[in-house]
Amino acid sequence: MGELEIEKHAQYILSVEKRKDEFESLVMEHLRMNGAYWGLTTLDLLGKLGDVDQEAIISWVLKCQHECGGFAGNIGHDPHILYTLSAVQILALFDRLDVVDIEKVTDYIAGLQQDDGSFSGDIWGEIDTRFSYCAICCLSLLHRLDKINVGKAVEYIVSCKNFDGGFGCTPGAESHAGQVFCCVGALAIVGAMNHINKDLLGWWLCERQVQSGGLNGRPEKLPDVCYSWWVLSSLTMMDRVHWIDKDKLASFILDCQDKDNGGISDRPDDAVDVFHTFFGVAGLSLLEYPGLKAIDPAYALPVPVVNRIFFSK
Ligand code: FPP
Ligand code: ZN
Repeated sequence: MGELEIEKHAQYILSVEKRKDEFESLVMEHLRMNGAYWGLTTLDLLGKLGDVDQEAIISWVLKCQHECGGFAGNIGHDPHILYTLSAVQILALFDRLDVVDIEKVTDYIAGLQQDDGSFSGDIWGEIDTRFSYCAICCLSLLHRLDKINVGKAVEYIVSCKNFDGGFGCTPGAESHAGQVFCCVGALAIVGAMNHINKDLLGWWLCERQVQSGGLNGRPEKLPDVCYSWWVLSSLTMMDRVHWIDKDKLASFILDCQDKDNGGISDRPDDAVDVFHTFFGVAGLSLLEYPGLKAIDPAYALPVPVVNRIFFSK
């Protein structure tokens, strides 16, 4: 099994930010807030967050906030709950949640809750359990879960549960490991894990491991490094990580590294990107790979950041 190229991955993340006019950066322009969260969290897990210009990043994040309280993916773009969570997570990484108008952000999120407890992602009204997670995670980080109807939010998530124990994006939609993370994460944050059948869902999740050691997101799909996160974080929250072969998964992730230029891809020999670099490193962190900070499986932030928010103030 190869080793994790900590220095090279940190250099890769820092270099993507400097090459803003290149293709990967251009296709990422409208979701730069997500990219910044993936990149910065990776750097923190690698112990390299000190290498970035914190003040410049915070000032850019604040420029992405709209009058309604929500954050956009970049300056001049529309606000969305996905970017709002990333913005709050970035400020949390830097221990600077004090710079944000908490009342305004939390009003924006609360305004997206529907009568059935679900959340839309923005004013256009698309509903998805991803947005339930974003709302619950963000409000919890800001200590303002009281602003929504948590009981109804839980009821809606439970209505998306399937016969296989998994969850989809809306009621009746197929189970998908990404949505499983969102639903298990949201239920874990509000202390409602009693709604999960851990043996049934744990079985479905551990069946996501294929021959190569990698994990897929649904039956019959190819393995993909990002599912190391969606599946493993869910198994961790359910105390079922020992149901998969951890060594084989770690080797699969390490085989997806670009050992020359840094970065991690979805599958061995594919092109690397920041998204899969984050989820690869985050997966290895859950597997307790040496030299990495621990990551919280529900908040998707380094454990010291989560501890600072909930235990030291
Ligand atoms: C798969 O996406 C992943 C999901 C559906 C979950 C996405 C979750 C969020 C956006 C919540 C925020 C996440 C974190 C970590 C804080 P895909 O489109 O790649 O699925 P595919 O593999 O089926 O194409
Ligand atoms: Zn992927």
